[in-house]
Amino acid sequence: MEEKKDITTREDVILMVNSFYELVQKDPELDHMFNQVAQLDWNAHLPKMYDFWETIIFKNALYSGNPMRVHKQLHGLQHLTPGMFDTWLALFNKNMDNLFEGKNAFEAKTRALSIATMIQMKTVYGKH
Ligand code: HEM
Repeated sequence: MEEKKDITTREDVILMVNSFYELVQKDPELDHMFNQVAQLDWNAHLPKMYDFWETIIFKNALYSGNPMRVHKQLHGLQHLTPGMFDTWLALFNKNMDNLFEGKNAFEAKTRALSIATMIQMKTVYGKH
């Protein structure tokens, strides 16, 4: 079996993000949030997510945004649920494990869990 490499370049991040959002759009509940509720422009969203994950993994500060505010707004349009976060995380981890293995891949999964937990606190559980 071929050994997997770690996620180390922007090309790796682009592959990870593109394949993750393909999986997201196959899940009816998540797909609904992105395509019906937010009516997302994917051409704008995907590059933002490349920058977001590069910032997390490589610490090069490409992303400057406010994910907490964005998800609170989304929750205002239609409630996010614990089940959606479970699915989101399961798909993120599965996709990462399919593609990469190493310190950065592990850190990205850990950060995804902690950010998902924070977003969930501020939306589903209404903590401010
Ligand atoms: C239930 C799970 C989630 C759902 C349904 C969801 C959905 C969305 C949607 C629809 C947008 C686009 C909003 C817009 O531009 O109008 C968005 C943006 C974003 N999401 Fe999520 N999200 C979820 C979890 C997460 C998690 C766990 C993370 C981070 C680990 C994350 C990171 C981001 C970021 C960085 C943006 C861009 C924010 C900006 O515009 O600067 N999301 N999300």
